[in-house]
Amino acid sequence: MAKQTVTVTLTVNGETHTAEVEPRLLLVHFLREHLNLTGTHIGCDTTHCGACTVLMNGRAVKSCTVLTVQANGATIKTIEGMAENGKMHPLQEGFHVEHGLQCGYCTPGMIMRAAELLAKNPDPTEDEIRWGISGNLCRCTGYVNIVKAIQYAARKLREREQAAAGS
Ligand code: FES
Ligand code: FES
Repeated sequence: MAKQTVTVTLTVNGETHTAEVEPRLLLVHFLREHLNLTGTHIGCDTTHCGACTVLMNGRAVKSCTVLTVQANGATIKTIEGMAENGKMHPLQEGFHVEHGLQCGYCTPGMIMRAAELLAKNPDPTEDEIRWGISGNLCRCTGYVNIVKAIQYAARKLREREQAAAGS
């Protein structure tokens, strides 16, 4: 019997993609296997770890828990879409400068989650950062440097805003 497929159109990191997918295809598999965007990781199969976090219409979602058909028409941003003009996003820079990673497996998901957090709250307290990333698990770092990395990015983004407002 022929497999049933559905046509979906998604804008991912600024590019529009139309594809025929099975209704059961998870967004994380669409990103990794159809678009080859393997920066979005899979760390569990229980919606626990957050390694698969991407932005969907600006909201952080666990892409292992979203069907591709549910994302039809949506705008998706993955870790591959964070750098601008060949320059790391302040969050990427923060994880680098503050040593916010060891194995790096959780990092793309952490960064996407933190991007949503900082978009909503540009000057979060440490508690707000820890609460914000509580759905993302890291097995290596103990979180201290992850928090510092997000604080670094928050500072950089605020400075950038102030500079833009002053120019
Ligand atoms: Fe673990 Fe999605 S892969 S929450
Ligand atoms: Fe290894 Fe976070 S750096 S899981």
